[in-house]
Amino acid sequence: MASTKLLYLSLLAQVATSQSQPPGVTAPLARTCGPTSADVVCIDRYASIMPYHFFRAPSEGSTDVSFAQTSVPNDTSFGLVAGADFLVFDQQRGLDVLGPSPTLDLVFNVSLAVHEAPVYVPSLNKLFLSQLSPPDGFLPQLVVDLNQDPPTLSEFLSDPPVYAPNGGTFHDGLIYWGVSGGNNSIGGTEQRSGVRTLDPHTNKSVTLLNNYFGFYFNTVDDLFVDSTGAVWFTDPQYSWFNRLTDTPPQLESASYRFDPATGAVTMIDDTLVQPNGIALSPDGKNVYISDTGSETGSIIAGGPPGSPFNQTGPRAVFKYDRVDNGTHITGKRPLFYAQDWVPDGLKVAANGYVVTATGPGVDVLDEFGVLIVRIQTSFIVQNFAWTGTNLTEMWLVGQGGIARVRWNLKGQDLTNPTS
Ligand SMILES: *[C@@H]1O[C@H](CO)[C@@H](O)[C@H](O)[C@H]1NC(C)=O
Ligand SMILES: *[C@@H]1O[C@H](CO)[C@@H](O)[C@H](O)[C@H]1NC(C)=O
Ligand SMILES: *[C@@H]1O[C@H](CO)[C@@H](O)[C@H](O)[C@H]1NC(C)=O
Ligand SMILES: *[C@@H]1O[C@H](CO)[C@@H](O)[C@H](O)[C@H]1NC(C)=O
Ligand SMILES: *[C@@H]1O[C@H](CO)[C@@H](O)[C@H](O)[C@H]1NC(C)=O
Ligand SMILES: *[C@@H]1O[C@H](CO)[C@@H](O)[C@H](O)[C@H]1NC(C)=O
Ligand SMILES: *[C@@H]1O[C@H](CO)[C@@H](O)[C@H](O)[C@H]1NC(C)=O
Repeated sequence: MASTKLLYLSLLAQVATSQSQPPGVTAPLARTCGPTSADVVCIDRYASIMPYHFFRAPSEGSTDVSFAQTSVPNDTSFGLVAGADFLVFDQQRGLDVLGPSPTLDLVFNVSLAVHEAPVYVPSLNKLFLSQLSPPDGFLPQLVVDLNQDPPTLSEFLSDPPVYAPNGGTFHDGLIYWGVSGGNNSIGGTEQRSGVRTLDPHTNKSVTLLNNYFGFYFNTVDDLFVDSTGAVWFTDPQYSWFNRLTDTPPQLESASYRFDPATGAVTMIDDTLVQPNGIALSPDGKNVYISDTGSETGSIIAGGPPGSPFNQTGPRAVFKYDRVDNGTHITGKRPLFYAQDWVPDGLKVAANGYVVTATGPGVDVLDEFGVLIVRIQTSFIVQNFAWTGTNLTEMWLVGQGGIARVRWNLKGQDLTNPTS
């Protein structure tokens, strides 16, 4: 009887101890690991059990939202997270992605305007990208010349000029732009949201699509071209929130497939609040679309501009299966809930890993949505593109910066698409 009571008391004592810190807390949560060419930090077991008291403040209205800002006073190793170029969550696959000598360099400081639509043109070894306003009505695009050492950045004006490309890809020798803005007097001409191409050798731009049965698209945002030449794009409503168009949305937020051979536009999804990035797997079987609906705004004429961030709003990447002879998608399921900000730019690496720009960095996921590596930057990244003959360099573009990553993760070869 007495011994049973003693056992009971000692069990109680154990429970009391384990309530102050949960069992399984591993220390350190973070440690320096891997190659020394960059600041690489490995996170143990996704930091899935943190010692109390920890807290990550919500990021209402702020872009200062990083995982690194989590306060974990009882594990000082967590302080390593803030300074890392690369955070490795899956050590085996993560260090493989980084390769023997990964680097992350901020190559250009740019304005705080949104920088988007990075497209690599192999035949010129140049990276084209866009800058949205401000300044108001800004028409040129930007070009990074990778033939120069160090690379140079200059403005580029196509013929005729194209206002506000927000997404871009390369297909069959042409840059395809998702053009997001609309106005009756941009550069003296009328332009409406849609799909346009640029021949990077002649500088000529051509309009492929500028309406849906007479309605303006809201914000053709991001796109890819499949092997049949069909253009898949998202059409959220940001251009109205950001006043890059003079007309409030006439269409619901949706995603479409456009066949330039026939002119037909077919809706493929209308379930996302603000569909944003869109990408195709290398085998052509899956389409990924991100929802950045936690940044949304008023679509009413005369309503307030802007799209304030809502911490508990939608901000996930979704995965779909291609069906109907490759013309539609089904089987929508969440792939990854962004751990930072919203999943903006979205592309799939040659090996099928899904890469998405989320806040001040870029996340690399496996095809089932497990986070492998995060690149951490000092600026909000909108989008990224692989460059170089081996496609093992990746350029990140965003608000305030253009950065270059060198690592082992190859991009899909858009000049020789497999899907
Ligand atoms: C650290 O953990 C101990 C228990 O292990 C706890 O008493 C203390 O309050 C914790 N410190 C902080 C700052 O949370
Ligand atoms: C960018 O700006 C920062 C802060 O002013 C400066 O330290 C850095 O050298 C600049 N980098 C480049 C590539 O211009
Ligand atoms: C069209 O865009 C230009 C440049 O942003 C702006 O100055 C002008 O006011 C816009 N026009 C309309 C009707 O919104
Ligand atoms: C295209 O534009 C670039 C940059 O402005 C210029 O160097 C090049 O000569 C132009 N090409 C043609 C064919 O006009
Ligand atoms: C934020 O999003 C959640 C989930 O969609 C919604 O319930 C809530 O009302 C939103 N908050 C604001 C301030 O819009
Ligand atoms: C299916 O797609 C292929 C490739 O685009 C095309 O050649 C074929 O005609 C399509 N089949 C049908 C039934 O539409
Ligand atoms: C591309 O890969 C080949 C074979 O691995 C290598 O020899 C070459 O140096 C690489 N080129 C660049 C620019 O990294």
